Amino acid sequence: MMPLPRIVAAETLDGLAEDDPAAMRSRRDLQRIHRFMGTRGIMARALQRLLASRPSAAPLRLLELGAGDGSLMLGVARVLGARWPKVEITLLDRQDLVNRSTLDDYARLGWTATPQVVDVFDWASTQSPAVREPSARWDVIVANLFLHHFEGPALATLLAAIESRARRFLACEPRRAALALAGSHLVGAMGANAVTRQDAVLSVHAGFRDQELSALWPGGQSFWTVSESSAGLFSHCFLAERSGLGGAEASP
Ligand SMILES: C[S@@+](CC[C@H](N)C(=O)[O-])C[C@H]1O[C@@H](n2cnc3c(N)ncnc32)[C@H](O)[C@@H]1O
Repeated sequence: MMPLPRIVAAETLDGLAEDDPAAMRSRRDLQRIHRFMGTRGIMARALQRLLASRPSAAPLRLLELGAGDGSLMLGVARVLGARWPKVEITLLDRQDLVNRSTLDDYARLGWTATPQVVDVFDWASTQSPAVREPSARWDVIVANLFLHHFEGPALATLLAAIESRARRFLACEPRRAALALAGSHLVGAMGANAVTRQDAVLSVHAGFRDQELSALWPGGQSFWTVSESSAGLFSHCFLAERSGLGGAEASP
């Protein structure tokens, strides 16, 4: 069977206001879809793998791009939180979606969560201290169901900004494959609304497979260790770790 070509199209949810009832309902659908896809476990396992060589007591600075309402990483925090004592997480999204009770839930786990409402391309175009000062880099940047929104120069710009600011990067995206496409056509059976039903299919067409993200990653092989593979039934994950971090992170 021929591989599906990658097709990126604007998703309906991205064109709706934060408080549009259809958008609010679609974001709740997404939480159920994550449970079905096993996203929380996939992300938690990938992060554990990515951070395995890091001193466990060291404070961790984490940035999520396209964080939505912050609930997915809150679930990940519930899995990992007890073993990671001091985590500061910034939840970046161009919409203001993280509510007070979500921030309180992070705080109960000992994580300090800060929403940052900004378009990711404004973030990418801002001169980061990390570009000049390596110690200012994020320990981990994560993205879930986010990179697939972009293609061509926009995706290249985004990956370059991530590469210059992160010590590690984890992305979990829709897998562009027949099974995931079949699943995306069935989200209506879970009670998903029209926005979610349409966007689920668009997301799979815009997803990734094989070593596509590795091929786009701007970090050189002598500076980064990368791996990319399918995860669960419907996901595709990319992990990148800057070389030689062990020594750098052992010191305070
Ligand atoms: C499919 S949702 C994923 C949310 C969350 N990561 C999750 O998996 O539950 C994609 C998110 O990306 C955000 N987004 C899309 N384009 C963006 C941009 N240019 N800058 C910042 N956020 C953006 C949307 O507002 C939305 O919250």
